[in-house]
Amino acid sequence: MGVPAAIDLLACPRCAGGLVVAGGAVRCASGHSYDLARQGYLNLLGGPEPANADTAGMVAARERVHAAGLFGPVATLVADALAGRGRLLEAGAGTAYYLRRSLGDDPAAVGLALDVAKAAARAAARADQRVAAVVTDVWRTLPVRPRCLDGVLCVFAPRNLGEFARVLRPDGRLVVATPGPGHLAGLRDRHGLLRIPPGKDADVAAAAAEFFELVDTRVARHRADVDGTLARDLIAMGPNAFHRVPEEVAAGEVAIDVTVQVLRPLR
Ligand SMILES: C[S@@+](CC[C@H](N)C(=O)[O-])C[C@H]1O[C@@H](n2cnc3c(N)ncnc32)[C@H](O)[C@@H]1O
Repeated sequence: MGVPAAIDLLACPRCAGGLVVAGGAVRCASGHSYDLARQGYLNLLGGPEPANADTAGMVAARERVHAAGLFGPVATLVADALAGRGRLLEAGAGTAYYLRRSLGDDPAAVGLALDVAKAAARAAARADQRVAAVVTDVWRTLPVRPRCLDGVLCVFAPRNLGEFARVLRPDGRLVVATPGPGHLAGLRDRHGLLRIPPGKDADVAAAAAEFFELVDTRVARHRADVDGTLARDLIAMGPNAFHRVPEEVAAGEVAIDVTVQVLRPLR
């Protein structure tokens, strides 16, 4: 399981050839070789992590927030859109929370969790045996064979739409989740967090129009009371962590406001 179970879906980042597992490494026919980390992930990045890669602290905060169930309704919308689809990829997967939910209870399903952060890949690799965690930059050509996937998910993460279209089967689906303007309202006002520009969903549909047709849009919107620890984790798990995470964060009400769009390839 893990990377070996998904090896047929992967491609060499240097020559696009197929890959095979050979001992503790992964190789292509041209002789390019990549180490499988002890922690179970495959590093295809070929260089240092960029500055915007999530840190171990951010990943741990995200795991705690997901364990608390705050984003459960979002995961349900994403998983419903991908139900019955057995070969999935999550771009900027973090802990692969949404990918695991979308794989459902099918033991034969396989998910590629791509993230530029090693800390995220470690978490994704240990989360579910059906997940193959791969360290890579999703802005580059994805190390994935063409037209082999039933679904691609992208939740609060970079969207390489041309590449998503290339790796999806013609009957595949792309599911994109973006924060609405009310997302984390309350916390955002109290702590001066980064503003979410309105119309992110419209931007996704416009940018995707070259490759995809929008087939469905749903919104997960609810309010929850969180204690100070969870409120701090909500700040520490996201982009605000690159600026400043306050030592003390007050308990209070937060809003979850996330748009989930389902798109199908145009071909
Ligand atoms: C806001 S987090 C979302 C994680 C996950 N999708 C979730 O919602 O739980 C964004 C993720 O994208 C990753 N990321 C940022 N830039 C990336 C890139 N160029 N290629 C791959 N992953 C990237 C970060 O390391 C981080 O794990």
